[in-house]
Amino acid sequence: MQEHHTIHSADECPPGGGFCRTHELNILLLSALYAVSRELSRSLNFRESLREVLRVLHEEAGLARGLIGVVDAESGKLAVHTIYNPDGPDADAAQYGPGEGIIGLILERPRSIKLSRVADEPRFLNRMRIYEPELPFIAVPIKVGGSLQGVLAVQPEAPEDGLLEERAQFVEMVANLIGQNLRLAMDVAQEKSSLLEERDLLRRTVRHQHGFDSMVGHSAVMRRVFDQARMVAKWNTTVLIRGETGTGKELIANAIHYNSPRARNMLVKLNCAALPENLLESELFGHERGAFTGAVEARKGRFEQANGGTLFLDEIGEVSAAFQAKLLRILQEGEFERVGGSKTIKVDVRIIAATHRDLETAVEMGDFREDLFYRLNVMPLFLPPLRERIEDIPDIARHLLGKIGNDQKRKLTLTDMAQRRLASHDWPGNVRELENCLERAAVLSEDGRIDVDLIRFPSSRERSSGRPLRNGGPAPLGNMPPAPPAEEVDLADPSLSERERVIAALEQAGWVQAKAARILGMTPRQIAYRIQTLNIEVKQF
Ligand SMILES: Nc1ncnc2c1ncn2[C@@H]1O[C@H](COP(=O)(O)OP(=O)(O)OP(=O)(O)O)[C@@H](O)[C@H]1O
Ligand SMILES: [Mg+2]
Repeated sequence: MQEHHTIHSADECPPGGGFCRTHELNILLLSALYAVSRELSRSLNFRESLREVLRVLHEEAGLARGLIGVVDAESGKLAVHTIYNPDGPDADAAQYGPGEGIIGLILERPRSIKLSRVADEPRFLNRMRIYEPELPFIAVPIKVGGSLQGVLAVQPEAPEDGLLEERAQFVEMVANLIGQNLRLAMDVAQEKSSLLEERDLLRRTVRHQHGFDSMVGHSAVMRRVFDQARMVAKWNTTVLIRGETGTGKELIANAIHYNSPRARNMLVKLNCAALPENLLESELFGHERGAFTGAVEARKGRFEQANGGTLFLDEIGEVSAAFQAKLLRILQEGEFERVGGSKTIKVDVRIIAATHRDLETAVEMGDFREDLFYRLNVMPLFLPPLRERIEDIPDIARHLLGKIGNDQKRKLTLTDMAQRRLASHDWPGNVRELENCLERAAVLSEDGRIDVDLIRFPSSRERSSGRPLRNGGPAPLGNMPPAPPAEEVDLADPSLSERERVIAALEQAGWVQAKAARILGMTPRQIAYRIQTLNIEVKQF
């Protein structure tokens, strides 16, 4: 129960002229109250503000040895938050439980306590050893929305002079102001912590989605690529990712960024083949206002957006000679100017570039600057075509079916025959083609089971063992043998050995022996016999 006071007005001063002591004190306290409110609104650092409040109480209101305790939500105890005592200890881990000492009494019953002389009070603990036994003492609750959150305790600097009530009323006002600010600080802290939680969750999700977990493959070649990527991820080294279309170049660029120390900053992507030259330049370097018709506002380019992070330059093999020169400068110096600007901008950006082109040949032909090639090719990563890692197909297919099944909200399965058919295809479009093929099959499947009849390819591109069949496709990479010209294995070809004919038929039949036998005009027993005598290793999936 707090008593309510009215501010002492000048009319109440005793006659005889001048202000009475009460009135003088009120004027002093009013200006101190103003200073307190100013301190509370000055900074967002609540602890610092509270110290300043206690300092103001000491310097402007004659209330020394201020202490602010905050109720700990878990233990219900009052932890000393801030002490202002210029000549004593100013921090301590002291805690008060309900009923412990005078301050603890407030925890039991949130109301103000006023003592004319602290030494007269037997429950006084003086835990902090800061209080003067001969002086008065005031402690008031700090409430937020009706619930007790803390205590503000002070000691008037002079012995009781009959104005304890006025001082206590003032301390209550200060406690109210602190309560309001505390509520604000609590709301802000709560919001901040939920935002941080959300951010961390998003970061973990992004890292999971774009990390190495999202890339499947146990073949020796892919394991080597993953190892190299993991190692290079740690550094700022420029990476050049190469591989045919759909081999996972963008995926590995993501994995490198999200596993690098730059993961908390942006990964900015730009497909260099997607824009005409002039747009590409302003897209990458940004432009100043009025740099060209339509440039109404200045704009940051991708290089600036990626500052502190990574810039993924996709299809780097497609840029013109003039543009190559500009890229070279930024790679060498880390600086550039916006289009239409003269100010040199410096950025800290890690570059990952990708191309399906054979850059060595492009350099030889004079289409690609040699110096730029060496700048980019610091750490080359080659993603082999899918047909060179068929052992990965079952794993990748399972992974992709999981993803597609997730979208379709049902479980998708692949029969053995279907798997064999996947393994017999040439995959000129690599993993992307596999993904599309499986998605098509999933759409066509009624019950989620994908059998061989649902695995369809746009045209016949079955692969015969050791003789890749490719109908065109992207240009081969420098380190990969060029594919032989498109051809279909002709089983009647007289140059084929018996063994090659059986293997080719098995491949075409997706390693279903009965089917291969039909193709060759044999009985199942005949083909089984040949498989055995010709020492053909039957593919197991
Ligand atoms: N090893 C892999 N495991 C799982 N999914 C993969 C793998 N490699 C590629 N993919 C998937 O295949 C698709 C194509 O990959 P990505 O876009 O990274 O290829 P790319 O090399 O950049 O192709 P392009 O040259 O056509 O741009 C993506 O959906 C990707 O998620
Ligand atoms: Mg790509």
